[in-house]
Amino acid sequence: DLELHPPAYPWEHNGLLSTFDHASIRRGHQVYQQVCSACHSMELIAYRNLVGVCYNEDEAKELAAEQMFEDGPDDAGNMFKRPGKLADYFPKPFPNEEAARAANGGAYPPDLSLIVKARHGREDYIFSILTGYCDAPAGVELRDGLYFNPYFSGQAIGMAPPLYNEQIEFEDGTPASVSQMAKDVVTFLTWAAEPEHDDRKRMGMKSIVLLSFVAAGLWYYKRHKWTVLK
Ligand code: HEM
Repeated sequence: DLELHPPAYPWEHNGLLSTFDHASIRRGHQVYQQVCSACHSMELIAYRNLVGVCYNEDEAKELAAEQMFEDGPDDAGNMFKRPGKLADYFPKPFPNEEAARAANGGAYPPDLSLIVKARHGREDYIFSILTGYCDAPAGVELRDGLYFNPYFSGQAIGMAPPLYNEQIEFEDGTPASVSQMAKDVVTFLTWAAEPEHDDRKRMGMKSIVLLSFVAAGLWYYKRHKWTVLK
């Protein structure tokens, strides 16, 4: 294989006991919504999933209401459009795979709900794809609609570089460099693929604390029982 192996980046959430950086998840959602969602669906995520993670309930309701969703049939048997609700899943940019390919020169933008788990290299790989575009080496000719990216299998990807500096304005004022947006959107996508991550680590910590008391108790009990036999 030609492609480069991504370097290992120090993701804050990958510490033994560290939770996600939720401000980063929120910025990452902004990047997904304003950039990636033009081509990539996230079928498994509903607006309600964002509540308590990176938005409060009112903010998430507002985000949902900015989109129109098809619903129905109504009493007359007609389908109709209505503003989104918390229970709605993120809207899809294309009705089906054929339409998505037709709009992207034949390449298929995969659903991003589980992409972090689906790709070898996880966060490091997605971050490297997003930041790794560069000029093709001399002598390398790319077919129309393909872009040189050393981290992509075969080094030619059907996604134009999606990020450029100051492309969006983060609502918290963080400078929107390519690497900042890439880091934040990858953090958002990692949360999406693993929403139970923080709870899992919190439970892990609780179990270790509790089990160490249990272990201490058992040790003492065993010593107590065996004193007469030794
Ligand atoms: C592929 C992420 C924006 C079109 C991909 C892949 C990822 C990704 C992870 C898969 C690479 C692989 O298969 O290993 C993102 C993110 C974006 C973004 C995080 C926003 C920051 C866009 C936009 C478009 C687009 C705006 C369309 C204009 C595509 C296409 C592919 C693709 C067509 C398939 C490429 C191929 O298989 O050759 N993207 N993308 N992406 N993306 Fe994006």
